[in-house]
Amino acid sequence: MDFDDAIPVAEHIYWVGFADERAHLHCNPYLLVDKRGAEVEAVLFDPGSLTDFPKVMRKVLEVIDPAAISLIVAQHQDPDVCSNIPVVEDLIGRKDLQVAAHTNSIRLIRHYGIQSTFYPVEQRDFCYTLKSGRRLEFMFTPYLHSPGAIVTFDVDSGSLFTSDIFGAVSEQWDLKATDESFLSRMDSFHQAYMPSNRVLAHALVQMRRRWQIKRILPQHGSVIEGDLVERAFAHLMALPCGIDLDELPA
Ligand SMILES: [Fe+2]
Ligand SMILES: [Fe+2]
Repeated sequence: MDFDDAIPVAEHIYWVGFADERAHLHCNPYLLVDKRGAEVEAVLFDPGSLTDFPKVMRKVLEVIDPAAISLIVAQHQDPDVCSNIPVVEDLIGRKDLQVAAHTNSIRLIRHYGIQSTFYPVEQRDFCYTLKSGRRLEFMFTPYLHSPGAIVTFDVDSGSLFTSDIFGAVSEQWDLKATDESFLSRMDSFHQAYMPSNRVLAHALVQMRRRWQIKRILPQHGSVIEGDLVERAFAHLMALPCGIDLDELPA
């Protein structure tokens, strides 16, 4: 597989990511391309860091004219998620471009110098409808790992974009998980970045109740599909993390 190219991870969804080899951190921005006849509308998820902007944009350009992007979804405020938005929006060059995020994130994200209009998801019924009628549903996942974190479900493809949740940091990396070896690769990242199992499990239960999830598209680590989706949920439901691991003094 040539990771220098955009790689389809589902029908009409492309991985346009990059690797920080030194940090063993693969960042996974995704591009959703919705086609209705000749008309194309695209959504870019968690576009990434300023330093890796050229890699992401080259991959986007392989797939579409960036002017087709009507929405950028910034699922939380971290620099590896969205510090490149000011340059990405320049390249897109649309006055009607919007940046979807939770207001708790928008307060911080605006300091990157974003010019586009924000789309505060909690003020829009946690939903965005593309021109074709395709529906994106958002869910608030507070403190996982930031106070404005959200995940996004693409109803058409059954794909759940989870940002840092289900992420992994490891030397070994596969774009798509092929067996259960990816499960333990999620451990150290969740133990370090997620506040507690209680907070994590609260959001996981809501996701599973609400959606029929065919595929998980995290911002780090591997794409998780099929039977592995259930295994991944079960694994994180049982994982102590954050303050669970902080031994209280006697
Ligand atoms: Fe993060
Ligand atoms: Fe991240």
